[in-house]
Amino acid sequence: MDEQIITIERHIIEQQRRYPEATGVFSNLMYDIALAAKIIARETTRAGLVDVLGLAGKVNVQGEQQMKLDLFANETMIRMNSYTGRLAVMASEENENIIPIPEEYGIGKYVLIFDPLDGSSNIDVNVSIGTIFVVYRRVSTGGMGTLEDCLQKGRHLVAAGYVVYGSSTMMVYTTGHGVHGFTLDPGVGEFLLSHQDIRIPAGPKYYSVNQGYEQYWSTGVRRFTRWLQGMDQEFPRKPLSSRYIGSLVADFHRNLLDGGIFYYPADTRKHRGKLRLVYEAVPLAFIAEQAGGYASDGRCNILDVQPESLHQRTPLFIGNRELVERAEEFISRYDV
Ligand code: F6P
Repeated sequence: MDEQIITIERHIIEQQRRYPEATGVFSNLMYDIALAAKIIARETTRAGLVDVLGLAGKVNVQGEQQMKLDLFANETMIRMNSYTGRLAVMASEENENIIPIPEEYGIGKYVLIFDPLDGSSNIDVNVSIGTIFVVYRRVSTGGMGTLEDCLQKGRHLVAAGYVVYGSSTMMVYTTGHGVHGFTLDPGVGEFLLSHQDIRIPAGPKYYSVNQGYEQYWSTGVRRFTRWLQGMDQEFPRKPLSSRYIGSLVADFHRNLLDGGIFYYPADTRKHRGKLRLVYEAVPLAFIAEQAGGYASDGRCNILDVQPESLHQRTPLFIGNRELVERAEEFISRYDV
């Protein structure tokens, strides 16, 4: 056997050894999430068979009612995590309110927040989609977890990660000691360490934004984009290449590995942007920071924003630190 093969389970256990006081609850929670991701991955690879096999809202060959993939992913995350006794409360982008843990299962000390299947417009066209998650320690004392447990600043999170269902399935996570990526080996059904200690490359390659909405942007965002394209007369630079998938996880993942910036700004139609602070921006901001990058809402660090409601939206600029800081400069200079 090759001793270099490191499964996600082994990696999680080795991370746990850094904390002699750890009880193993957190490690098991990470493993629960990895297991849920494998189940979701199995279904996403069958998504194209929906019409062929008569799924989605219809009855399949086993006589079972089939769910839409995003609802299936949501149910999977909830079911795999509600009975373990490790969580106090959950919140999902798909649910309006917090998701309480049924008392008969036991109430734990962690809080799990997730976007079960992000990039929904890409599901039906066989383009990469993803799951995003973040873990906090509960702040409430005793009993069921509360909304307050779910509305903590990103700065206080314990772990964050995502799963990208692409040409292969990858899970990327951090507990604050670097960012590590695992690729699912479908043959053995296990995530294997493939990207250790990911750092955003110093020389960025890409900028990623939905340029179709440029007419709604502020002057600062337009000027910043011209700068990225190497067309700002005052601050000339080499142009970056443009890439935009429209799946946040996939766009972020590519830029994490190759260097660059993703942004979804506020605009005249969406005054607070489109993306969700708690489910999307915060977890990716922490991952970016752990990889040497930075995430901002255009004016301040995403991890310092106090969430006021579960589904609150935020503008997001994320990727190489120098590019995100430049975005902040353009915004403070041109937008009042
Ligand atoms: O938040 C949902 C989402 O699908 C993200 O994954 C993605 O980055 C964004 O919306 C795409 O939005 P648009 O189609 O407006 O560019």
